[in-house]
Amino acid sequence: MRELHDLNVSIAVEAAELARARRRVGVAVAASKSSLVDIVTEADREVERLVVERLRTARPDDGILGEEGTSIPGTSGLTWVIDPIDGTVNYLYDIPAYAVSIGLVEGEPDPSTWQPLSGVVVNAATSERFEATRGGGATLDGRPIRVADAVPAATALVGTGFGYDAGRRQRQAAIVQELIGSVRDIRRIGAAALDLANVASGRLNAYYEIGLQPWDFAAGALLVEEAGGSLHGWQGEAPGSRFLLAAHPQMAAELLELLAPLPVGDV
Ligand code: IPD
Repeated sequence: MRELHDLNVSIAVEAAELARARRRVGVAVAASKSSLVDIVTEADREVERLVVERLRTARPDDGILGEEGTSIPGTSGLTWVIDPIDGTVNYLYDIPAYAVSIGLVEGEPDPSTWQPLSGVVVNAATSERFEATRGGGATLDGRPIRVADAVPAATALVGTGFGYDAGRRQRQAAIVQELIGSVRDIRRIGAAALDLANVASGRLNAYYEIGLQPWDFAAGALLVEEAGGSLHGWQGEAPGSRFLLAAHPQMAAELLELLAPLPVGDV
């Protein structure tokens, strides 16, 4: 496990250096994906290629699933789940909140059943490095981190995010409009992996999002759990693409109660 995690760290750090170097030169949109605003830059593709190359060399039997199209089935039972640059829009605008996120999971590459083993999230703009291993705790730049102490929802700083489809974004915003009156404030940082890292390190009290992709949370979810937080799905489902809430375990029930009457299931 230690060897696999060290490999994860070294690849994520190298990938973040590449993303940062490309950002210095300048970044342009290479293509749109699911909608005009869902973009990919040449750097996203290049960083994913680098990560895949390093993993194929070191771990030829493992599967790889990447945001920018990599889908390699493995035979070892382990899969690396990669977001080469989470926070691509921040990256485009040079807002310093974009990260390389690499999770190593055991089992089918399906978030409802997989077991995360190692997670690394490196903010490529600041070089902050969040790490976790199953059962081994979570760290920020080598120092142990914990979720913030539980607070009532009324004083909770809650992160969230929006998808790229216009209608879905409006439905997500309608939920925020309801929730914002019941919490301290809302943050939309623009990188799900960093939102989860922020919960793990106590910079946010909670984070939820509807419609994440597996690579958005494969690493970050383990950070939260290993930092003493808990993850929740919608109405008892496993946390995942439909809905994911991350918070101090004692805060989850109140937040889920606030969200319950809102049309989360219809987003
Ligand atoms: C997006 C970011 C954003 C979240 C979206 C994700 P990308 O990932 O994490 O914060 O709200 O749901 O798709 O496109 O920047 O890799």
